[in-house]
Amino acid sequence: MKEPVRVTVTGAAGQICYSLLFRIASGEMLGKDQPVILNLLEITPALKVCEAVAMELNDCAFPLVKDVVVTDDPAVAFKDAKIGLMVGAKPRGPGMERKDLIADNGKIFSSLGKVIDQVADKDIRICVVGNPANTNAFILAANAPSINQRNITALTRLDHNRAIYQLAEKSGSDIASVKKMTIWGNHSVTQVPDISFTEINGANAADKVDATWAKEEFIPTVAKRGAAVIAARGASSAASAANAILDHMRDWCLGSESGDWVSMAVPSDGSYGVEKGLIYSYPVVCKDGDYEIVQDLAVSDFIKGKMVESETELKEERDTVSDLL
Ligand code: NAI
Repeated sequence: MKEPVRVTVTGAAGQICYSLLFRIASGEMLGKDQPVILNLLEITPALKVCEAVAMELNDCAFPLVKDVVVTDDPAVAFKDAKIGLMVGAKPRGPGMERKDLIADNGKIFSSLGKVIDQVADKDIRICVVGNPANTNAFILAANAPSINQRNITALTRLDHNRAIYQLAEKSGSDIASVKKMTIWGNHSVTQVPDISFTEINGANAADKVDATWAKEEFIPTVAKRGAAVIAARGASSAASAANAILDHMRDWCLGSESGDWVSMAVPSDGSYGVEKGLIYSYPVVCKDGDYEIVQDLAVSDFIKGKMVESETELKEERDTVSDLL
C-alpha cells in the first residue's frame, strides 16, 4: 500500500466541496490505489457544518481515507500538505464590485500563502478555485516564495470542459472525439476559448463549424456559462466545478491523455508573449507529475488580440492588489 497523501481543501463546508470531497475520497483524483488524509479548512462559523461533512465522509467507509481532519487553523490544515485545493472564498455580495471582491478575497490568499510558505511541503501542488482565481493564485505565490512557484496554478478546466461540450453539441459530435481544446487567459469573461487547434475525430474542428459561430457565439457562450448557470440555478456551478478540479489535479498528477492536451492557468514563463509570472491559462500536456505549456501554436491575429485583452485584465487585477504582494 502506498503512503497516504495529505490533501488540504479550503472552504470545505461549501457547495463545491460537497460535490468534491466524496469523489477525492473514492479515488477519482489520485487513483484507486492512493490513500489520502483529508485536511478540511473552514472559517470558525462554518466548523459545525464542516464537522457534518466529515461525519458523512466517515460514514461512507472509504477504504482510501486514512484520516479526516477538521480545523479552522491554516497552520494545522497545511502542515506537510502535498496538495492544496483552494476553494474557500467569499462570494460576491449585493452591490459589490469585482475590485471589492478582489481586495476581500485577496487578503485570504495572502495570509494562506504565508502559512503555506511556512508549513506545507515545498512541492505542494496548488489549484486555486476561489475567485478571482488567477489573481488569487498570483497573490498566494507572491506570499509563498519558498514554495515551488511552478506548482501554484488556478482552475480553468471548467471553462475547458464547457467549451468541449459546446463544440460537441454544435457539431453533432461525440464528447470523446473532441481533443486539443484551448482556454487562454483569465478565468473571467475575458477568457479566450479557442478551437483553432481543436480536433474532432482527428480532423480540424474549425472546418466543421461556421467561423462566425466560433467567433461570435462560441466564445461568449463559454465565457458567460457561469453566469447562465447562476441565472438558472440561483447558485453558482458546484458539481461541474468540483468535477473540473478533479480533472485538473488528476491529469497533473497522473498525466493527461496521450494525443490530447488540457487547459490550466499556470505561472507564465513568457510563452506566447504573456508577461512572465502572471497566472495565465495555457494549453498544457501533463506527464510524470509535471506539466509543459504547448509551444509553437500559430495563433491567429483575432485570438492574439483577445489574449492580450485578457492579459491586460490580469495586469489590472494585479495592480489593484499591489498592497498584498
Ligand atoms: P460557498 O460559498 O458555498 O463555499 C465557500 C466556503 O468557503 C464557505 O463555506 C466559507 O465559509 C469558506 N471560506 C470563506 N473564507 C474562507 C477562508 N478564509 N478559509 C477557509 N474557508 C473559507 O461557495 P462555492 O460555491 O463552494 O464556491 C467557492 C468559490 O469557487 C467561489 O469563490 C466561486 O466563485 C469559485 N468558483 C470558481 C470556479 C472556477 O472555475 N475557477 C467555478 C465555480 C466557482
